[in-house]
Amino acid sequence: KMRIAVLTSGGDSAGMNAVVRSIVKSAILKGCETYVVREGYEGLVRGNSEAVSSVPTSSNAKEHHRSESPLASGDADSFVHNLRFGDGELLRDGTGDHPGGRSLKGRYIVRVGWDDVRGWFSQGGTLIGTARSVVFRTYEGRLTAASNLIKEGIDAIAVCGGDGSLTGADVFRAEWPKLVAELATQGRITPEQAKAHAHLRIVGLVGSIDNDMSMTDLTIGAPTALHRICEAIDNIDSTAFSHSRAFVLEVMGRHCGWLALLAGVSGGADFIFIPERPPEADSWEDEMCKMIQRHREIGKRKTIVIVAEGAHDKHLNPIRAEYVKDVLTERLGLDTRVTTLGHTQRGGRPCAYDRLLPTLQGVEAVEALLEATPDTPSYMIGVAENKITRVPLMDAVRMTNEVTQAIKDKDFDKAMSLRDPEFRE
Ligand code: F6P
Repeated sequence: KMRIAVLTSGGDSAGMNAVVRSIVKSAILKGCETYVVREGYEGLVRGNSEAVSSVPTSSNAKEHHRSESPLASGDADSFVHNLRFGDGELLRDGTGDHPGGRSLKGRYIVRVGWDDVRGWFSQGGTLIGTARSVVFRTYEGRLTAASNLIKEGIDAIAVCGGDGSLTGADVFRAEWPKLVAELATQGRITPEQAKAHAHLRIVGLVGSIDNDMSMTDLTIGAPTALHRICEAIDNIDSTAFSHSRAFVLEVMGRHCGWLALLAGVSGGADFIFIPERPPEADSWEDEMCKMIQRHREIGKRKTIVIVAEGAHDKHLNPIRAEYVKDVLTERLGLDTRVTTLGHTQRGGRPCAYDRLLPTLQGVEAVEALLEATPDTPSYMIGVAENKITRVPLMDAVRMTNEVTQAIKDKDFDKAMSLRDPEFRE
């Protein structure tokens, strides 16, 4: 019976809980045992070593849970008949509301069952926690992570995160045989364990509000963040209209302009700054003011400018919302305010598509893990023209890095065409 663990890593995004739910449920239906790793890669490195003594006995009796669970003794079908019963530990964690509750203190790799993830698709953020782990970037950290996985008998992991998190997953997998050999030499695992865990299966799902991953049309959480920005624009619109003001909105996205661009189109912005396509003119200030002046002359009472947090001019000098405000105030005499939307874009309930997409992708992720062989690459689950896809993870990461490099090289046409192969000047 394959043991699959799922973790979320990097910045949280709406839909991550739906990923966990979908993977847990699909894996159970395929007869697998399911685990979550709390706090991303950090939890993988911490493992369950501090466990038992600090945990109330009612919740730490892992073996007891296993033996009484319908999954432990029966097959997937018998489990399906017992869907009412939680098989895992999250529901029994003592706090009753959050998987990071006190009885799981010191335990990061946790057995979960059907009921543990019930209703998770409507929750924002990630209930199993996330982190940007520094220690997992070190070889020693990955060695300990491997040892923790093997101790729990886990054969496969599904990682939901951005490009950095998925790169980490692929490095881990490539290194796995070396890690296992070293653990066996050090006596941290038995030769039998080394043999049983000769290969690690890994699959990536892209959870990021930035929609910055190549080879997939959408990342999980991006539609919700976009929706949030549109709502903010609508709210700002009415006050801007009332006072006939200008507003400069700074939105997230790191090196990617997707959120800014699509929010600008969906919300009717007057001017948009994105990293991939800086203004053409030597003086973007003139270009922007000319455009906004024209809009005002044809009767617009309000002005909305959207600045992606990674925006810059064509010489790569950052374009900051505060500076844009000063330009609008001084050159056009507009009463201007800045609104930085910040983390309101990232948190909160997922929109419908950020429930649907992770649900479908979770099913595909489990299939990919079950079908993986030592010779197949690690896959990233994507979506292209509304179809769920499987693409080699490293190809997607490489292409994503190429975009960032093209921006750094000021090759903006290349950046645009890598983001969108249909892009034409
Ligand atoms: O990658 C997601 C993201 O929200 C980016 O848009 C933003 O630049 C960054 O994370 C913010 O990170 P933090 O929450 O660590 O400040």
